Amino acid sequence: MTEKQTDESELNAVAVKINSGIKHENPYVYDMLSTYGREVYFSKDGNVKQIADAKKYSEEFNATSGFATEHGQPMYLPLLAETLSTYDPADIFLYSSTLGTPELRDKWQEKMYIENPSLTGKKISKPIATIGLTHGLNLAANLFVDEGDTYILPDKQWENYKMIFSETKKAHMITYPMYDNDFKFNTSAFRETLLSQRDKKKIIIILNFPNNPTGYTPLAHEADELAAAIKEVADIGVNVVVISDDAYFGLFYKDSITESLFGRLANIHPRVLAIKVDGATKEEYTWGFRVGFLTFGINSDAMNTYLEEKVMGVIRTTISNGPTPSQTFILHALKSPELAKQKADKYEIMHQRANKIDTILSSGKYDDAWDLYPFNSGYFFAIKVKGVDADTARIHLLQKYHVGTIALGNTDLRVAFSRVDIEHLEELIKRLYEGIKDLQ
Ligand SMILES: Cc1ncc(COP(=O)(O)O)c(C=O)c1O
Repeated sequence: MTEKQTDESELNAVAVKINSGIKHENPYVYDMLSTYGREVYFSKDGNVKQIADAKKYSEEFNATSGFATEHGQPMYLPLLAETLSTYDPADIFLYSSTLGTPELRDKWQEKMYIENPSLTGKKISKPIATIGLTHGLNLAANLFVDEGDTYILPDKQWENYKMIFSETKKAHMITYPMYDNDFKFNTSAFRETLLSQRDKKKIIIILNFPNNPTGYTPLAHEADELAAAIKEVADIGVNVVVISDDAYFGLFYKDSITESLFGRLANIHPRVLAIKVDGATKEEYTWGFRVGFLTFGINSDAMNTYLEEKVMGVIRTTISNGPTPSQTFILHALKSPELAKQKADKYEIMHQRANKIDTILSSGKYDDAWDLYPFNSGYFFAIKVKGVDADTARIHLLQKYHVGTIALGNTDLRVAFSRVDIEHLEELIKRLYEGIKDLQ
């Protein structure tokens, strides 16, 4: 167990200042930072500061930032504006702030507190707007993951985590079996895996519920057990960065908790840094908009500022800032009185599909072809096929039955019922069954 040493004298003075602030607020979070996380900073004296000064003092001739105006309005091409005529051009064409449109960030935070009762009384950072959840995961990885760090995931997982954390960051993945032999969510395996890392200085945990690919969200007692295991390993002295990837948040259909694990984990222990990665991508059915958020459980307002400065450093050096139009569109939706009803309508469609799948698959008629992994939420269900290689089944289903699924490993197929209308579900499952039986 070696402590990571950083020679702060080699760092930029602004980075040193932020680092000492973070250390002062919570030394464990400083220890969790990756080498890059310690090095990165946002230069307040650079362009952005000068632009802000000009905004304050010289509205008349503000020739600072690189955009063009005509008569005080952003310059734009009418053909681009025609379809957007209900919006103020300034909310569409101009740069957004590095951390995202302030009002959008406020609204998303408000929404987070309303939808996650476990957050009541807890301090969380102002959500930082990202370009979708993938970008949020990358920002977290940049700040807190070093080469050789260990990150922990269930064996049923979204494939991109490996690309981000193993391939890009060179971290080491450890998995635990998500379900036990009785197909129950395996909180003991989670705890044992965490405890097996008790000699590490830092671990990173990724929690993704509703899960991709299985569509599972823990029941209340399971969620409590996950949180308790994280606290237990922190009590032993391990620093824990725990990322809740809540891509499919809100689509909870049966028995599970109906909020993010982030609520249970924020501020649970000084050695636990809870991070929430979420966004409009799936929640608001706006996949192409690329609006996500990154939020931290924090112990002080000062920590919010320090972490914002770190994240701003990464954003400034990678994408400079996010797209204004999509942030404007999402803000418009969040402020609309129609949003709740429209989202409830879509939820109901998804819920009914999930119920229907439950009814069809619990009949026992298909048990000789597959086992269904428990699912109660999200966009997907997944099956463990019997006696057939999953990818062989995938190709056969595609070629003979025109059914597209995703094969995961040798045994699992993921089915996105989010893309199949309720009246076609019976036929879909019939084809899945026939395809697998052909090959057995
Ligand atoms: C679990 C999970 N996290 C993150 C993402 C990526 O979201 P985004 O498209 O907003 O980057 C996905 C998309 O499929 C996902 O399934």
